[in-house]
Amino acid sequence: MGWRMDAANIGGRAAVQIIRDIATLRRAVDALKLGRKSVALVPTMGALHAGHLSLVRMARRVADHVVVSIFVNPTQFGPNEDFAAYPRDEAHDAALLVEEGAALLWAPDVSVMYPPGHATHIAVAELGADYCGAARPGHFDGVATVVAKLFNQVRPDIAIFGEKDWQQLAIIRRMARDLDFAIDILGAPIARDPDGLALSSRNAYLTAEQRAAAAAFPAALRAAAAAIAGGGAVAAALADAEATIRAGGFASVDYVALADADSLERLTEYRPPARLLAAARIGTTRLIDNLAVE
Ligand code: PAF
Repeated sequence: MGWRMDAANIGGRAAVQIIRDIATLRRAVDALKLGRKSVALVPTMGALHAGHLSLVRMARRVADHVVVSIFVNPTQFGPNEDFAAYPRDEAHDAALLVEEGAALLWAPDVSVMYPPGHATHIAVAELGADYCGAARPGHFDGVATVVAKLFNQVRPDIAIFGEKDWQQLAIIRRMARDLDFAIDILGAPIARDPDGLALSSRNAYLTAEQRAAAAAFPAALRAAAAAIAGGGAVAAALADAEATIRAGGFASVDYVALADADSLERLTEYRPPARLLAAARIGTTRLIDNLAVE
């Protein structure tokens, strides 16, 4: 296949190279690494918002060059999930990346990522079964597989993931350790709206009424984290949080759990480092969030 490379620039600023095939990507990353320069990768599915841009800014602080990938990965969506409807606006995303000073945008088609005959999958069994993994069978196998491929394609020194997807971050850390990827995995703090709602591409699905009600979700988690950190019983704090989320207008709560922050083992008693993990549905939109308990 011949190489394909586009470019986006705004108002005379330096362009971000948009690359769509692996051979061109390898040459471009090799060029960035000349002179022992470091490269950080920020993997995304696009529809970039301020949360993603905070990852790009962190990447710029810790590495010489930043590569952002945009790939809406079909293998991490279940059959009844929002793969087709997932928001896509590459031109807008590329313009934001020019503003943030990213060097490369890796944006392969599905046929480049998964050519015919693709048959290899990665499962991080122990960490992927509970929480979001229980509600979304196969989701984390899809995430682990595509992230391993992105690591091999880009070959970054550092990769940055948002802490909003805490289970995903724990799984990727474990995968990188188990498969000996020589890549530093960094977590970036959750970016939130002023009312506390964690930024997410899926917030765009919320009606104005649902968006206003959604602030009940992080508020309930903050109260539960404070109760547990203050010595309150874990089960009671989790039950109160679930009841408050439902009363706030959420249709259902997939889980509110206290977990070991690294192993993700469920905790019935507080033991640091601990993380409160939660997922709940408002209308048809599933939101996730988490908080350190300390
Ligand atoms: O967090 C995401 O946006 C995705 O799960 C990721 C890590 C880019 C893999 O597709």
